[in-house]
Amino acid sequence: MKLSSALDLVSFTLPAGSAAERALARCHTVEDLRRLAARRLPRTVMDYIDGGADAELSLAGNTEAFARYRFTPAVLADVSAPDTATDFLGRTAAAPLGFAPTGFTRMINPDGEPAVARSAAAAGLPYVLSTMATTSLEDLAAQPAGDRWFQLYAWKDRARTLDLIRRAADAGYRVLELAVDTAVPGNRLRDVRSGFTIPPRLTASSLLDIGSKPGYWTKLLRAPDLEFANLSGGAADCGHGYTIENIGAQFNPALDWAGLAGLRAAWPGKLLLKGPVGPADAVRARDFGVDGVHLSNHGGRQLDRTVAPADLIAPVRQAVGEDFAVVVDSGIRHGADIAVALALGADLAMVGRPYLWALAAGGEAGVGHLADLLVSQFRRTMALLGVAGVAGLRRAGPQLLAGTPNPVPVLEGTP
Ligand SMILES: Cc1cc2nc3c(=O)[nH]c(=O)nc-3n(C[C@H](O)[C@H](O)[C@H](O)COP(=O)(O)O)c2cc1C
Repeated sequence: MKLSSALDLVSFTLPAGSAAERALARCHTVEDLRRLAARRLPRTVMDYIDGGADAELSLAGNTEAFARYRFTPAVLADVSAPDTATDFLGRTAAAPLGFAPTGFTRMINPDGEPAVARSAAAAGLPYVLSTMATTSLEDLAAQPAGDRWFQLYAWKDRARTLDLIRRAADAGYRVLELAVDTAVPGNRLRDVRSGFTIPPRLTASSLLDIGSKPGYWTKLLRAPDLEFANLSGGAADCGHGYTIENIGAQFNPALDWAGLAGLRAAWPGKLLLKGPVGPADAVRARDFGVDGVHLSNHGGRQLDRTVAPADLIAPVRQAVGEDFAVVVDSGIRHGADIAVALALGADLAMVGRPYLWALAAGGEAGVGHLADLLVSQFRRTMALLGVAGVAGLRRAGPQLLAGTPNPVPVLEGTP
């Protein structure tokens, strides 16, 4: 080859965009975003995101459960325009994907919950604000309109619980998710060992951290104080008084089905139970007027050795029939996982850690990048599976999956 022809093959284009934009553009997988987040965040904060309870068996099992499935695609189907849009409880989402509730998001990036909500709204996806958020539900409602849901922890103080429900209704939240996996806090050993606190305290080791992650600490120290924004204000203010050590002591471990009936009566909108809800409990919930379940083991952060939510989808769907909403999270890391979830019978899949990594990696743009990544992976998976739409994927589901990779677990209802 002549030198001039060889030179034609070399591209000398200068990289476009800021360093942050270029770093994001190099993230082609959720794991790439996680690695970028790990470069930006102190080790203790990264462990707070990544960690699970006890031996982290639930945590490991969650991703494994999705990865065990194999596809058997339909061939010679017209997939020239795969459509990822779907209806969920009366509202259209751009894809069967949402962002699950996470506490203390502004600690990961001071742009926090509003940045996640804006990215979700721009992508046409639902976002669930946590009771433990660092932005109040009223402040979040002032962000551009999107499909906003609220996740509720039931408090020992019933008046506080009812007040949160009233505020969520007044602020226009569409769906309420009642967490039913948090009677007591899970034992997250990484946080126990690192001495992690909420809010983070400047200790000898965090001072060392300032040297290694100056960007993180500069942003955090310049930002307004971190607080549990939904719990502040009023006579019983506890926004500043709670830490990770004592907050769980305020959750109501006595909440039972009679308590659920009271909360159902107080909430005018759609209601989901969020937790590792088995088929018998899902049927019971439906009988109590609940609209659906959000199958979740809190991303492996609560009860260790919990069945992977992926493995609950088919038995729950079989038990409740089609006319009941089924959301799933815990372990979704690729658009193909979303396709598996839907083929098994879920209506919507959600992610927790992936959007926190994206937020740490690139703020609001990072979360937008993650949404694009997951939706485009899902769209490509649909096309390669030979399905043109979400309803078709749900219908053809069982034929698109090769066998059942493990025995179907059945959780009995509580006595
Ligand atoms: C850092 C962190 C904080 C969380 N905080 C909450 C919370 O406040 N309320 C809640 O219902 N779930 C919470 N979750 C659980 C998520 O809603 C979701 O169930 C879980 O992250 C899904 O698993 P994944 O991280 O594997 O996607 C949290 C998860 C993480 C990683």
